[in-house]
Amino acid sequence: MILKNGLFITGEGIEAGGKSTVLEKVASRLEEIGVPYIRTREPGGTRIAEQLRAIVLDPNNDIHLNTEIMLYACSRSEHIHSLVLPALKEGKVVICDRYIDSSIAYQGYGAGHSEEVIRKIKAVSEFATNNLLPDRTYLFDIPLEESFKRMGLRSLETQTDLDRIEQRAREYHQRVYDGYHHIAKQEPNRVVVIDGTQSRKKVFESVWNDLEVFLYKNSQ
Ligand code: TMP
Repeated sequence: MILKNGLFITGEGIEAGGKSTVLEKVASRLEEIGVPYIRTREPGGTRIAEQLRAIVLDPNNDIHLNTEIMLYACSRSEHIHSLVLPALKEGKVVICDRYIDSSIAYQGYGAGHSEEVIRKIKAVSEFATNNLLPDRTYLFDIPLEESFKRMGLRSLETQTDLDRIEQRAREYHQRVYDGYHHIAKQEPNRVVVIDGTQSRKKVFESVWNDLEVFLYKNSQ
């Protein structure tokens, strides 16, 4: 399948919502049907952006909330200009794990900021990316209880500590959850809410059924 233009697809949601696993499956399906793609993530995706990721997620770093906003935006700027925009220009599908909505949900709503500050956080990311918005965003929706259960299991299985953001209080994550639903309500044409409590197969199908239509509409 040859696309008319590159497509920018993002996955979003609270912790342990299953987005990475499903986005991996989406990438495999694109490979099978011969659609050129790249799979990437934020924060990270390039050498410098991964270095910034290590700083911003390190639980030993005490980082001011304003600095945190800027660090995510710096990572985003690097990632977009050196990896994402060139891939889109080549007509590829870019599948990205997290993007600007994460900054709005976590650094904005999560931190309890007013709508005015949230607009400023958005503006910083818009500057970092020259206003690049995703064509489609899948919001993987699981209840907060489930998220905490899965995070606990994952850190036991992998013997790793929770990162700086995961360690935050329940109230913070509840605000992030509510923030995501607020974004989805504001932008229903871009953000598709996916029930992340379904089986992995069903979650994948929910994403793929939507994405496939979108791909065909954008094919030559
Ligand atoms: P990940 O665990 O899905 O890779 O995401 C890393 C963490 O970074 C996750 O806790 C969400 C957080 N994050 C933000 O707080 N703001 C952002 O802009 C991004 C991209 C991620």
